[in-house]
Amino acid sequence: MILVVTLNPALDVTHEVDQVNWAGVNRPHRVHVRPGGKGVNVARTLRALGAEVTLAGLVGGGVGRELVTGLDGSGISTALTWVCGETRRTFAVVDTGRGDTAVFNEPGPPVSVGEYREFFVTYEKALASCAAVVLSGSLPPGVPADAYADLIAAAAQASVPAILDASGAALAHGVAAGPALVKPNLAELGEVSDQSMERAGQPDADAVVTAAGRLLAAGARAAVVSLGWHGLLAITPDGNWRASQAGPVAGNPTGAGDAVVAALAHGLVRRQDWPERLRHAAALGAATVAASAAGEFGAEDYRRQLAEVQVTGLPGPDVWREDG
Ligand SMILES: Nc1ncnc2c1ncn2[C@@H]1O[C@H](COP(=O)(O)OP(=O)(O)OP(=O)(O)O)[C@@H](O)[C@H]1O
Ligand SMILES: [Mg+2]
Repeated sequence: MILVVTLNPALDVTHEVDQVNWAGVNRPHRVHVRPGGKGVNVARTLRALGAEVTLAGLVGGGVGRELVTGLDGSGISTALTWVCGETRRTFAVVDTGRGDTAVFNEPGPPVSVGEYREFFVTYEKALASCAAVVLSGSLPPGVPADAYADLIAAAAQASVPAILDASGAALAHGVAAGPALVKPNLAELGEVSDQSMERAGQPDADAVVTAAGRLLAAGARAAVVSLGWHGLLAITPDGNWRASQAGPVAGNPTGAGDAVVAALAHGLVRRQDWPERLRHAAALGAATVAASAAGEFGAEDYRRQLAEVQVTGLPGPDVWREDG
């Protein structure tokens, strides 16, 4: 079983409008409401890959109940902790005329020390029966920035590898706790390393290798950096690789990184070698872009992308140590 932690899940509400009037009344022609947030997307993708998944995290109020109901029939087991506050919503307004989407992400409910402690007890119990844990997404107000570090340390105590997908302080603290893998995107890596990861509008591979190497020097055992349609770059003690795709896929890139995290977790528990893991992860990311909803992909898109992804070795497994 793979345990997925979602401390700040959301109910994702999407309104599709022909031409948004920002100063007047709009009548959406389509409305979608579904459980969301990074952890939920990862759990959904892992289920679609055939993995057994348990979702642990914090939910509250009527929105929390709607989120849990929305998971019915998904095949995802839940070990959720109820909090007094209300689970957040995200709103996406899709202007189908202009092809633009505006997204509004609420911050999440305040979480008390007691509520977080209750979650932690549930988490430790769930660790006892899982092969890997995925820690994904933002932290709600009240949960300390180093929470992921505690969760990674508890996983290490239980000999469970932890995969971290976070940003800012949560990522920096988490890295120091020694996760098996971190998966920043270019912007997240740029933020923690305080330098740009792009040059002339392209990923700057040298800067990415150096910055990802620093994450390993700081404690992470491996780093896979997602580069949007440019694919993935992996820095690991076993070697460095780049996974490249044939080209950009049109669609919805939100949640493509979550699909990558799911594929990497799946590959880890199935003991795939790195090149194979990366091939699947890049292909699944691209197939997820082609599907309209985050956390979903078409089997045919996935197969097609798998045939197109190229994984190549990068110079020396020790590149990161020289600069560390
Ligand atoms: N437009 C695209 N075309 C093809 N593949 C893409 C595209 N965008 C992303 N991907 C694939 O998905 C992977 C993850 O994308 P990205 O780097 O955007 O993740 P992310 O920013 O973490 O996404 P999110 O946090 O919204 O889930 C990429 O490494 C790539 O394999
Ligand atoms: Mg991401």
